[in-house]
Amino acid sequence: FVFQLCFSILMASHDPISLKGSMDSSPFPSSFLFGTASSSYQFEGAFSSDDKITDGSNGDVADDHYHRYLEDRDLMDSIGVNSYRFSISWSRILPKGRFGNVNRAGIDHYNNFINALLLKGIQPFVTLTHYDIPQKLEDKYGSWLSSKVQEDFRYYADTCFRFFGDRVKYWVTLNEPNVVAIRGYRSGIYPPSHCSRPFGNCSRGDSEKEPFIVAHNMILSHAAAVSIYRTKYQKKQGGSIGIVMNALWYEPISNSLEDKLAVERGQSFYMNWFLDPIILGKYPIEMLEILQSDLPVFSKQDLEMLKNGLDFIGINHYTSFYIKDCMFSVCEPGPGASRTEGFALRTAQKNGIFIGEPTTVDWLFVYPRGMENIVTYIKERYNNIPMFISENGFGEQENPNSTMETLLHDIKRVEYMNSYLDTLATAMRKGADVRGYFVWSLLDNFEWTSGYTTQFGLHLVDYPTLKRTPRLSATWYKEFIAKHNVQN
Ligand code: NOJ
Repeated sequence: FVFQLCFSILMASHDPISLKGSMDSSPFPSSFLFGTASSSYQFEGAFSSDDKITDGSNGDVADDHYHRYLEDRDLMDSIGVNSYRFSISWSRILPKGRFGNVNRAGIDHYNNFINALLLKGIQPFVTLTHYDIPQKLEDKYGSWLSSKVQEDFRYYADTCFRFFGDRVKYWVTLNEPNVVAIRGYRSGIYPPSHCSRPFGNCSRGDSEKEPFIVAHNMILSHAAAVSIYRTKYQKKQGGSIGIVMNALWYEPISNSLEDKLAVERGQSFYMNWFLDPIILGKYPIEMLEILQSDLPVFSKQDLEMLKNGLDFIGINHYTSFYIKDCMFSVCEPGPGASRTEGFALRTAQKNGIFIGEPTTVDWLFVYPRGMENIVTYIKERYNNIPMFISENGFGEQENPNSTMETLLHDIKRVEYMNSYLDTLATAMRKGADVRGYFVWSLLDNFEWTSGYTTQFGLHLVDYPTLKRTPRLSATWYKEFIAKHNVQN
């Protein structure tokens, strides 16, 4: 109660940022999805209720969303979102992959959750895997490193479409496969911690080809899931299916042609690496030229399956970087300077000046124009295929000196969302077919390598009690959505 009271006083004394200027006439159609995003491992906890997922070390309790999903659904309802992005835990559905039975408790859980969302007019926007994979598949054949995973993913996707597809109209196959390939198999900072020099200090002696093998299997797994959806379910169920990419905006560090070309290579070795094969049927030209035979090849049959492509592109966009050429100019050896990253060095600074406003999170720079630019880039490269901003949000690093008041009065998050939505609106006014926007995240949650020390939530979570308290940003988002007349 005291929190609530303080919060009301705070709210009353603060004039919420008004939506002036280009926001006056709303560019967001009434069918636009406004939501928040999350993932099973980062939210659910309850790791042993059904079965373990790949890395059981730190998400054991998380936000305990597995048990508190109704309360969380009500938080969404009070903000007024008309959609919610979450992921299904593969391990809860098929703890042993296709080599074992469907876990009924997992099916029941997601059925209950989906029904609870729909009861409040909240459309489920469902990701099949958000970095996680059953441990059994890692142990059995090395998960994404083996082409066998394609069959497992197809089987898992088929199971989800069968059980949930009557009510789920938006499916995402993979969340940020580029991050999985790079962080799981190059720098090694995400499971399964494989790395190759010079990116990490490798104890697992893996080859620098692994990210490309993993990516190839992910692309074909995506295609396998889309194929089964198209042939068995889509007509009957009437939904759509896409993929979610981590999308960075790159600015050349100088106006030189070399740095501009490095920007193109940077995008190709990061995002287009996946989108080009899925949408255009081939790897980006820069990758083919630089990597040559180190890049896996699509068979005739693969290409046939890839024709099924996708219905929409999910864009997770948070930040921007400068890019410096390392192909024609000499760079210190290190990440970006090597051929496996397209000789495109990524940096946040140019002559000591940051690309945008730095934050307390080391990789997050506030550069609102990056949103307009990346959406426009994707629109132009892929012929304006429907897009969703599947994640955008502002993180803050825990500070022992913060008071409850400062933790709740998250004005920087409000400014961030306001300015990014503003440039998103500009891109849409210029014709970009963007159909939804999801804030990362409804709640503070388990932020991978930084655990619970980085907070992204519209609601603060007090971990000892798991109590959720709305921040200023929750109220701001509610007002924003109300102003834009969202349908639900
Ligand atoms: C993107 C990832 O999908 C999500 O899991 C992560 O928490 C956010 N970025 C913030 O880093």
